Amino acid sequence: MKKFLDLISGETEEAFEKAGYDRSLGRVTVSKRPDLCEYQCNGAMAGAKKYHTAPMVIAEAVAGQLRECPVFSEVSAVKPGFLNLKLDRAFISSYLEEMRTADRFGMPAPEKPQTIILDYGGPNIAKPLHVGHLRSAVIGESLKRIIRYHGDKVIGDIHMGDWGLQMGLVITELKRRQPELPYFDTSYTGDYPEEAPFTVSELEEIYPFASGRSKEDPDYYAEAMENTRRLQEGDRGLRALWEKIVEVSVADMKKNYENLDVSFDLWLGESSVQDEIPGMVEDMRRAGTAYESSGALVVDVAEETDTREMPPCIILKSDGASLYTTTDLATLKVREETYHPDRIIYITDKRQELHFQQVFRAARKCGLVEPDAQLVHIGFGTMNGRDGKPFKTREGGVMRLSSLIAEIREEMRAKISVNPEIGPEEAEQTARQVALAALKYGDLSNQASKDYIFDMDRFTSFEGDTGPYILYTIVRIRSILAKYAGQFQAADPASLRIRPAESDLEKALMLDLAGFSAMMENACEELAPHKVCGYIYQLSNDLNSFYHATRILTEEDQEKKEGWIALLHLTEQVLCTCISVLGFSAPARM
Ligand code: ARG
Repeated sequence: MKKFLDLISGETEEAFEKAGYDRSLGRVTVSKRPDLCEYQCNGAMAGAKKYHTAPMVIAEAVAGQLRECPVFSEVSAVKPGFLNLKLDRAFISSYLEEMRTADRFGMPAPEKPQTIILDYGGPNIAKPLHVGHLRSAVIGESLKRIIRYHGDKVIGDIHMGDWGLQMGLVITELKRRQPELPYFDTSYTGDYPEEAPFTVSELEEIYPFASGRSKEDPDYYAEAMENTRRLQEGDRGLRALWEKIVEVSVADMKKNYENLDVSFDLWLGESSVQDEIPGMVEDMRRAGTAYESSGALVVDVAEETDTREMPPCIILKSDGASLYTTTDLATLKVREETYHPDRIIYITDKRQELHFQQVFRAARKCGLVEPDAQLVHIGFGTMNGRDGKPFKTREGGVMRLSSLIAEIREEMRAKISVNPEIGPEEAEQTARQVALAALKYGDLSNQASKDYIFDMDRFTSFEGDTGPYILYTIVRIRSILAKYAGQFQAADPASLRIRPAESDLEKALMLDLAGFSAMMENACEELAPHKVCGYIYQLSNDLNSFYHATRILTEEDQEKKEGWIALLHLTEQVLCTCISVLGFSAPARM
């Protein structure tokens, strides 16, 4: 099915041609002045130079052609040369009719679906998840769903930090507390215990403790470095202990991500590619792309056009240790070999921008990826508190993700319990759903690269540009549909037909719906979930305006009523599709 915008553009392009001008001038856009028109075309201004003709003359000529076309109900040429367009109501309703029954509301499938690896989440083993990891998970999950909906193949990889000094720190502290464990006995050859010698809460306490101590105690730090090295060199006991740390930590992470409705296809991490590093480094050395510089092994990545300093990419430190960069390069190599992706997208804090620039350039220079593979870093801004500083607990500590989720749920539960019809069990379930919507929408409705303020009161409000407001709108539609279904002689909404709009408010709602495919394609192309949020906010506003102005269920003209029910049904489906790509869902009532 053609996109609505393309259909309309097809008509205006035709009109330009008939009037003697180039077709390509006829592209239309959604109106920037909705008070004047619904769509507009600025082609006459663009053509004026080429044809040495006043823009108004071109606009008038094209308008003359367009007035013949049944797609438009109103065409005006306006100074200095705009074409202002209003659409025919029957044209819109017949488009929606087709859209209603088409697969994915008629959104065209990509001509050549891409294979895309999405690297998001990025939690670190043994460290508790904090709100900093929230954005990566929320944005990544939504992008995964948007791209999948678009029709491309997405492989989501969590890419855990499971190999660095933090592992050595945890091991060092465990050894200090429980020196009798067999993991530390180098002469031990038996099997290691099935059960981990710590719980997840112990683990979460151990890391910050060890990290703090290592900063004050140089011997302790040296021991942690030594343990990191021994682990990485394959010490049997430390390796077995490391596996336990990963096991306990991952089990807890899975719970946290499940609570967020975030999932991954691959649970790989920095450790997964360690065996690749020596061979990769050897190749780089042999090819001459990597060279020794003050003892370290580096790859130059600066380019002539750089406007800021671009330091060389360090592959091995002078003590031979590999780094975050090295791991990311080896991961790229493995991803290329395993999946031949068209694109790899990373979602991290924007402070890692330089790191990814270096990695991408080094990867290309060393031929680790195909030349036409696209490497994309989406750097997101900070989630701040109301004081404009990075979000903290009331006591000023780093906010745990689990505590944040619990707080929002509590807030939502209180709001939902006000409804006397909702019992405690349903309230609990609904609070979970609405809290997730508040949290995710609050994040996703901002352009990812920007910082934003986490404002509990605003995010959980049932009014305004919020997740709960969108859910409230869906619930409202469902309630009307349910009441309709309960009426005498009610037909199945799917069998009803959308009719030409009766009012301007209804028409506005219909135009929103008709723009679905273009919006979704654009959100996918620009990797921009906030476009989906902007769309459903507008759609919800227009739905509510229409609803307040129209007595739907008491309408006596059966045909009219059925047309409206069909329209509401489509609106509900489009809204639900949109929230599902944003990563949340709607309750039955709230
Ligand atoms: N673990 C990293 C962090 O907490 C994020 C990993 C992102 N992915 C990557 N391939 N570097 O900052």
